[in-house]
Amino acid sequence: MPKKVLITQPIDESGMDVLRAAKISVDVWPGPEPIDRSTLLERVSDCEGMISMLTDPLDAEVMDAGPLRVIAQHAVGINNIDLDAARQRGIQVGHTPGVLTDATADLTMALLLGVARRTVEGDALVRSGQWKGWSPTLLRGLELRGATLGIVGMGRIGTAVAARASAFGMRVIHHNRSGGVPFDRLIQESDVVSLHCPLTAETRHLIDASVLRSMKSRAILINTARGPVVDEEALVAALEQHEIAGAGLDVFECEPDVHPGLVASPHALLLPHLGSATVQTRRRMGVMVAEDLLRGLRSEPLNNGVKL
Ligand code: GLV
Ligand code: GLV
Repeated sequence: MPKKVLITQPIDESGMDVLRAAKISVDVWPGPEPIDRSTLLERVSDCEGMISMLTDPLDAEVMDAGPLRVIAQHAVGINNIDLDAARQRGIQVGHTPGVLTDATADLTMALLLGVARRTVEGDALVRSGQWKGWSPTLLRGLELRGATLGIVGMGRIGTAVAARASAFGMRVIHHNRSGGVPFDRLIQESDVVSLHCPLTAETRHLIDASVLRSMKSRAILINTARGPVVDEEALVAALEQHEIAGAGLDVFECEPDVHPGLVASPHALLLPHLGSATVQTRRRMGVMVAEDLLRGLRSEPLNNGVKL
């Protein structure tokens, strides 16, 4: 009998081609909403492998619901997967580092430029029909040259953002678990704070009310990492009270729900988790997870395995 796998959202055709060539029996949840819990538990019951999304909470119950031997996650972030449970059950876990670095860094710059130059307000003004013409004082924003960018989490993506920001003439500082400037100093000195750390117990609500209060009142917060790194309630309050000037967010605490205070804010630029969403990157991600899925089914080490 061919080995069976579950894919919890349609992926790029190039990835599907890899699986078809291997004559794997594939069950694809059609989306676009994430697979619901009971369907996931039911459909995984005869699957040896799975291509998962960051929207799938994968805990011991899911892992015990079927004969899983490999989980290939179609994302670089793996905070939705209980890695201890996977290790205890001998399930290999893979992900997609590297191939989405440039796409995510590009989107970070789109948010940074968009908020710094007040494009949400500008777009709304043009569409409202209320624009009275060019004016020396209309919607003045932050000039990037000479401004300080503070990067929290200097991994692949943080480093790629630093290169782009340097080309715009920004001064770049960073904070990491292993080095860089102290976190408090980064928060106080930065004109733009951009988050590129994984979501862990240590980074949950790293940006809370007191951190927001110690940012410059002209500062901008950018988050393309994971929503819960920011206390969204506190961010809304900080925007309302002008404790910071704006926020560019690609991720949210309870996706796809977005705090109504953010939706109402003219100083927030909001995107639906598009960091890796380019044609080229999604193709590479699709092939990457398909190849690692097959390696896992053959009990070979994964090309992009997570250390468990
Ligand atoms: C997207 O958020 C990812 O982790 O790849
Ligand atoms: C993720 O790929 C990172 O290292 O930033």
